[in-house]
Amino acid sequence: MEVLKHVPSQIAELIPYEPGRPIEAVAREMGLNPEEIVKLASNESALGVSRLAKRAMKKAVDEMFLYPDGGGYNLRSKIAGMFGVEQGNVILGNGSNEILEFIGHSFMGEGKNVVVSEYAFIVYRLMAKMFGAEVKEVPTKKNFTHNLTEMAKAIDENTSVVFICNPNNPTGSMVNATEIRKFMDKVPEDVLIVFDEAYAEICLGRMPDTMKYVLENRNCIVLRTFSKAYGLAGLRIGYGIGPQPIVDALQKPRQPFNTTRMAQIAAEAALDDQGFVRRCRALYRKGKNYMEAEFEKMGLEFVPTSTNFILVKTGNGRQVFEELQKRGVIIRPMDGYGLPEWIRITFGTMEQNEIFIDKLKEVLKS
Ligand SMILES: Cc1ncc(COP(=O)(O)O)c(C=O)c1O
Repeated sequence: MEVLKHVPSQIAELIPYEPGRPIEAVAREMGLNPEEIVKLASNESALGVSRLAKRAMKKAVDEMFLYPDGGGYNLRSKIAGMFGVEQGNVILGNGSNEILEFIGHSFMGEGKNVVVSEYAFIVYRLMAKMFGAEVKEVPTKKNFTHNLTEMAKAIDENTSVVFICNPNNPTGSMVNATEIRKFMDKVPEDVLIVFDEAYAEICLGRMPDTMKYVLENRNCIVLRTFSKAYGLAGLRIGYGIGPQPIVDALQKPRQPFNTTRMAQIAAEAALDDQGFVRRCRALYRKGKNYMEAEFEKMGLEFVPTSTNFILVKTGNGRQVFEELQKRGVIIRPMDGYGLPEWIRITFGTMEQNEIFIDKLKEVLKS
């Protein structure tokens, strides 16, 4: 259509992000009962929604005719209090994904480049492309972790952003505090370092303290989300914490009501539900022990994980994904990440994990 000539090439050429398939869609296509489908595809919470968040949402239903507080005063104050920073250091996003987009708006453009690790969360690349920035990809180490030494070396005079995803999606691998400190000692002050810590609260390893760089007023921002640890993925709410001038620059492209009233209320309550987070983490540890042991028995290569999902090499991941889907189990193929022989599985309840392993054995036998 002629009208499409107006779409800029960097948008026209974008290949949209392929999210985990929704239960409803798979049920429809496969003629399955949605209640029997096991979705282990989007690193969502295995224990559902935080109970305190649920209670707060029920109480808030009658307020929903009102617009939200666009500035998110209550939630931002609470987050600021938790981390010992000021409200001005906190930005809310419609999921932390939206903050990645703010970073694109404010820090990317033609002539600039962003440094990412191979096999890092794919949205960084999408954002760079969308905003016309070049992507400099740095190979991971052999064990699939970010190579921060090489990432520091890849920075040049046109680099505006470096993304460190820790733990990393989709590999589940981590960089440690020493690697981060050495990296931070080397990076120039005119590059924004993004610590994407979507899985921090449910991290099964030792989570490095990156907030100290924010407190030192360094050129960085830490991103967190309520989608994973707190079971609020459907509400779309996340946050970033950084030095105020950086947060101010990210606030500029933000729409006035980017996060909903319900999401702010639920998120605030969820922060009090640390028991829920602990229970989830304990379950993921069991899931990790179980799955890693099963993969070993099956002779499948996997990446030891530090979070609530795991990457395993099954051979032809797309086909395994399709076969599992026919059997009512949704996981993620990894060809989009350049890992066509691998799949990624989110840890569910132990019952769901066992169903997945049974079906996987069935698929690999056939
Ligand atoms: C590493 C990472 N960052 C950010 C996000 C975005 O999360 P949300 O937009 O739900 O906060 C995800 C979601 O899968 C993720 O894995």
